[in-house]
Amino acid sequence: MKGLILSGGKGTRLRPLTYTSAKQLIPVANKPVLFYCLEAMKEAGIEDVGIIVGDTKKDIMEAVGDGSRFGLKVTYIEQEAPLGLAHAVKISEEFMGGDRFVMMLGDNLIMEGIKRFVESFDRDTANSHILLARVKNPRQFGVAIVKEGKVVDLVEKPKEPISDLALVGVYLFDSTIFEAVKHIKPSWRGELEITDAIAWLVKNGYTVSHHLVSGWWKDTGKLEDILEANRLVLDQLEERVEGEVDEFSAVEFKVVIEKGAKVVRSRIRGPAIIGSGTLIEDSYIGPFTSIASGCTIRGVELEHSIIMDECEIINTGARISDSLLGKNVRVVKGERVPRTISIMAGDSSFITLP
Ligand code: DAU
Repeated sequence: MKGLILSGGKGTRLRPLTYTSAKQLIPVANKPVLFYCLEAMKEAGIEDVGIIVGDTKKDIMEAVGDGSRFGLKVTYIEQEAPLGLAHAVKISEEFMGGDRFVMMLGDNLIMEGIKRFVESFDRDTANSHILLARVKNPRQFGVAIVKEGKVVDLVEKPKEPISDLALVGVYLFDSTIFEAVKHIKPSWRGELEITDAIAWLVKNGYTVSHHLVSGWWKDTGKLEDILEANRLVLDQLEERVEGEVDEFSAVEFKVVIEKGAKVVRSRIRGPAIIGSGTLIEDSYIGPFTSIASGCTIRGVELEHSIIMDECEIINTGARISDSLLGKNVRVVKGERVPRTISIMAGDSSFITLP
């Protein structure tokens, strides 16, 4: 079996971060979301993986390379514009060469991995296998209507509450899906929807089996979701302190401190991860916080946040919470009067003041 990871798209809901980088590279517990997909593929025994790339292809290619460090052989498939998930499938027909394959959305995280689904689909005769999860907000997803244990229809982002069984970003297909994507038309949002292609399979008598996901699953397309994913992944951390922690500091409960990180006169209460070359001084780092590499955090209280590489956060006063900072961001207390708030923020940034 082969693998396909969708890593194109625009990431409009995560602007301004996605103006400068791919949303699939935003780190969760200091690791890009896309890497979790690649690791899941490897764990499932897949060797050949196609990655769909769009505008952000340079960043994705730089981060993943030829895939060898994940034990994979990666082929990049360029999509000229984000014309939909089914369009991404359409352009990967040649790469699949008639093989059965598993497709993952590069911004989705699934706790239980994909191994057992890949293994059973490999042995199975079904034309497609989809994963479903119950959600409170079905309008934001593709949903499946299941009757007497069988998938009878699928609708993308339904306006009416027809089902609360959302399509999770993991799909298994055989080559009949290429037939399906040729028959569907773009949806109201102008995209070729994979949901419509699967509905076409069902309507034309092909077998679409399904599985209800029991563990957690997250689409990390929005700030709240990426913070929630960070919380869920950090919760599973195994404690490891390889950096320096001075005698005036306290490190409590599931904390990873990478080699080369330094903690001085501070308290770190996990689950939390501190990247290499980061300095934490006179600060409190609370639960569910990921701080990447090369940051300076001084005189700060910070929790439930993701801080990317090379940030500087100094003497901020109020505790920082529920925040996502891109690379190289500076948040510092001004020393001069008048005591104004001075901001330089990219388009679509938001700042909440206490
Ligand atoms: O998260 C699960 C949901 O993902 C499903 O329930 C929906 O049925 C499915 O349509 C999809 O909905 P989203 O609106 O969340 O899809 P999004 O546009 O965020 O794209 C998902 C991933 O695929 C993302 O990593 C970007 C990539 N992508 C997207 C498009 C539209 C591509 O590589 N090419 C594309 O043309």
